[in-house]
Amino acid sequence: MSNIGSYEERLAGFDWSLSEKELGYIPGDRINIGWYCTDRICQMGMADKPALIWEGLGGSGRTYTFNDIRLAANTIGHYLQGLGVKDQDRVCLFLDKIPELYLGFLGILKIGAIAQPLFSAFGDESLLVRLENAETSVIITQRKHVSKVRKIRDQLPQLRHIIIVDYDGRKPLQERELAFSLDEAAPVEEFEVFPTEAESPSVLHYTSGTTGMPKGVQHVHYSLIAQYLTAKWVLDLQDDDIYWCTADPGWVTGTSYGIIGPWGLGVTQCVLDSGFSAEAWYRFIEKHRVTVWYSAPTAIRSLMRAGEEIVKQHDLSSLRHLASVGEPLNSEAVIWSERVFGKPFHDTYWQTETGAMMIANYPGMKVKPGSMGRPFPGITGVVLDPNSHEPIAEAGKVGLIAFKPGWPAMMRTYWNNEATYQAKFVNNWYLSGDRASIDNEGYFWFVGRDDDVINTAGHLVSPFEVESALLEHEAVAESAVVSKPDEVNMEVVKAFVMLNPGFEPDAEQELRIMNFIRKKLSPLAMPQEIEYVDSLPKTRSGKIMRRLLHAQEWGEEIGDTSTLEDE
Ligand code: PRX
Repeated sequence: MSNIGSYEERLAGFDWSLSEKELGYIPGDRINIGWYCTDRICQMGMADKPALIWEGLGGSGRTYTFNDIRLAANTIGHYLQGLGVKDQDRVCLFLDKIPELYLGFLGILKIGAIAQPLFSAFGDESLLVRLENAETSVIITQRKHVSKVRKIRDQLPQLRHIIIVDYDGRKPLQERELAFSLDEAAPVEEFEVFPTEAESPSVLHYTSGTTGMPKGVQHVHYSLIAQYLTAKWVLDLQDDDIYWCTADPGWVTGTSYGIIGPWGLGVTQCVLDSGFSAEAWYRFIEKHRVTVWYSAPTAIRSLMRAGEEIVKQHDLSSLRHLASVGEPLNSEAVIWSERVFGKPFHDTYWQTETGAMMIANYPGMKVKPGSMGRPFPGITGVVLDPNSHEPIAEAGKVGLIAFKPGWPAMMRTYWNNEATYQAKFVNNWYLSGDRASIDNEGYFWFVGRDDDVINTAGHLVSPFEVESALLEHEAVAESAVVSKPDEVNMEVVKAFVMLNPGFEPDAEQELRIMNFIRKKLSPLAMPQEIEYVDSLPKTRSGKIMRRLLHAQEWGEEIGDTSTLEDE
């Protein structure tokens, strides 16, 4: 029997207070995600149950019980407090998927500070803009990434401490650097959790928009109410499950469902801190007897390419429930997984901004391959007419995906950017920025984004960020960045570049430009191709018409060009 039972029955009379009651939260009282994921689970008698089964490069591994993660979070929290870190201070986690990332996250929340996880693959410039915007006071990192922090620390006067969790004493620590080892620190048994309340800020995740700076999506402790119940009903997490979320906590999936949801439920989860390979992933599932698996379409497509033979070489019979998020999950992938794993991947749709799943396929509900499913109980989801911003009643007609504000995990603002936050609402609807249609059974069918943001392998890339990096190179006069189709990543980044006089449009030049921007962008945002052009299509007001270049790449109709400069 699945946790949700009947979706239809859950819809009727749904109220979020159900989740509050299950968590024993009384409105107006304190609520702290760090406490819920550790102390409460121990108090419920699960102190000795494995919480984290971690595996690193080369097969090194370690298991932490719920009591271990409680103590570790206390110890890290206590250490940060000793450094003068106060509630609402921003503490950045700039780490690979090592245990300190997960335990540090909980420790930061326990002291009421705000956790700011960032991908360790970020280059120094990507790091700089995010730390500057958040006015981050502490960064927790490891030896292999500290050189990137050193490059930018002079531009970050607010950054008081740089904590290295694996310092080996070989080279002297530099300015503002501290060594902290979780294994060597005295475990802190008794710890007073900071009295955060529902609206106290908890997590700051940076996400890319069409223009300007990445935006800091600010969440609050009350988000737990939605993350807990969605993890329970959509991922169907049960007491004896071994759960694997493949996402990095630098991305919201890796925190909402790679930390908060499962641990709020007291479920054992495993983490694999190594790159993707079909062999390594299947081996991991087999070895740990993974039962619930939450992954992403690009990974699934990569597994499809690796073929079925390799699946047969592994015993994957432990798998009970599969789910996916981040990009459109094509129907072929659903049908394939049904054939080779005996179970379909259940698509889920949500965003950094929504904090928790909004539209999903539920256990027991009919899966229509290619559809994102139906809104979670308590979520009012519609598609709006792009002009009137009124909900579209007609089945199959494409509109803007919008939600009625007020669900518990909704972002509370964009950090230091309230105007952009306010611009996400119209007629009291939250605009997701995506387009879809709804069929006559209420299933949502994703169509595309309503802006120029590129979704490559599930990661959002702002064309503006890539263009800005390109423009900093002396050879580049103008650039326009769009997506182009890709079999595995769905779409990849392509740059059109107009060179300054005196620069040759050849392969060496391309290499020089690529090497230059590599230092500024995350690996995911790197263009897969540069095409030299003599001019770029522009509107009369001088704005580059990415839409035209996009249509050209995707072989689509070009549409209205009445504002084009060179008609
Ligand atoms: O365009 C949608 C796409 O990813 C965007 C949100 O990205 P991000 O904030 O990084 O969060 C992703 C993980 C929660 C959405 O606006 N997206 C997400 N899920 C799906 C999707 N597109 C199609 N199908 C999905 N299931």
